[in-house]
Amino acid sequence: MKGPSRLRRLLPYLAFAALAITLAACGSADSTRYPNTTFDPKSDLGRSIDDLWDTLLLLGTIVFILTELGLLFVVWKYRNNKEPKHTHGNTKLEILWTLIPAFILVFIAVPTVRTIFVTQAPAPADALKIDVIGHQWWWEFKYPEYGVTTANELYIPVGRTVSFALTTKDVLHSFWIPQLGAKRDLISNHTNYVWLTADSAIAPSVWNGFCTEYCGTSHSFMRFRVFTVTQEQFDSWIAGQKATAAFNAGPAPANPAAPVASAAAVTSNLTQVPGGVAADSATAGGQNAPATPATGGPVNSLPRNQPRAVSPLDANPPARPTGTPTGAANVQLAGGAPGYFFPRESMPAYAVPQRAYPAKIMFTTGLTGDPARGQTAFMMGGCIGCHVVRGNPMAAGTIGPDLTHFATRHTLAGGIFPNTTDYLARWIKNARVMKPGSIMPTLGKGEYDPVLKRTAPVSLDDQQIADIVAYLQQLR
Ligand code: CUA
Repeated sequence: MKGPSRLRRLLPYLAFAALAITLAACGSADSTRYPNTTFDPKSDLGRSIDDLWDTLLLLGTIVFILTELGLLFVVWKYRNNKEPKHTHGNTKLEILWTLIPAFILVFIAVPTVRTIFVTQAPAPADALKIDVIGHQWWWEFKYPEYGVTTANELYIPVGRTVSFALTTKDVLHSFWIPQLGAKRDLISNHTNYVWLTADSAIAPSVWNGFCTEYCGTSHSFMRFRVFTVTQEQFDSWIAGQKATAAFNAGPAPANPAAPVASAAAVTSNLTQVPGGVAADSATAGGQNAPATPATGGPVNSLPRNQPRAVSPLDANPPARPTGTPTGAANVQLAGGAPGYFFPRESMPAYAVPQRAYPAKIMFTTGLTGDPARGQTAFMMGGCIGCHVVRGNPMAAGTIGPDLTHFATRHTLAGGIFPNTTDYLARWIKNARVMKPGSIMPTLGKGEYDPVLKRTAPVSLDDQQIADIVAYLQQLR
């Protein structure tokens, strides 16, 4: 007999597949191993969707098992019948098999509709309002109550309801933070809303956010990060972000030339910067800044309060500590303004972009950027046409991200690159090679602009770019 022997041959494969599926299901859904899972929700919204999913999966499994049992029973019972007796029409049976699915659908509809009502309800009046504006291909976040605008990095306090108003400047996008449950489309000429409360029990953390509606060439490069912080940290962050940037940038902080091995050494060194950036601004454009390679030292000005051994990390995207990040105490920004931001060294690996920059964008090593010169180049080079730097009345363009507190951000270019010297310099030099379709023009001297299909019309040499990098890295 052909049938049974074929079945017998297939049996080991079937058993293996069943085992593999079972083992795959054994993994836990914890955030560290699966940072973008939706099965480990960290908000009320995420949980209501997850609960619905669990209910539907359970109901579906029951239906599946009953149906398969019925099927197997019939196959077994009539296994010896050569040709079954034909019947035409059976009213009882037809009523039955119409009613059973209808009954099942009602069972599924009740929790589904209930969840739709919960997740579509208007947000509580006291919710923190955040405007989310989609752009090809980055995210703009505004906190209208505070007059704060930022890009690609969102801070929300845990335990407080946050209401997002979603709009788009161009095409359709979709806002999604898998672990927090929010997923809603950004539609032209229409405002969508979604609101959630991040669990107050979670320690200050970072979550990945995505655009989940195809929106053009760099759709997959339209990322963002969400920082869930305590109310105190949030208040401090808001206070820091509300402050205007120092208009007269001073020279870079006096870092020792050698890569610093110990975090403590960096910290003690950095605390030597008193009184804010303006205090140093008269120092002849920073000509006397310590001569350190552009890949380390002063140009790589991480926020001064962020202890980190800088030099080696910029050469290669760093391996960051894994695990749940710990909260950090509030910090003081240069100038004395309070301004928490998530500590760079606490960024979990899953939130740090690992994408390498294109090897063909070369950048001269060993350059020391000068922030004062950089500020001039920033204004003369056309950057102010697209970017706001509050405190600098000339920088008022709104096409690109607001850069007022650029140096407090961890990522670049829609969250796809780490915000470090090497990446930033190359981003300024040839953004359109770094990120296909980018509106940010190619600015480097002699660089090929893949959109214009010719050499960049604006041309900044590497020293000018290093200066602009140094300036941007002072924008805390
Ligand atoms: Cu925006 Cu896809």
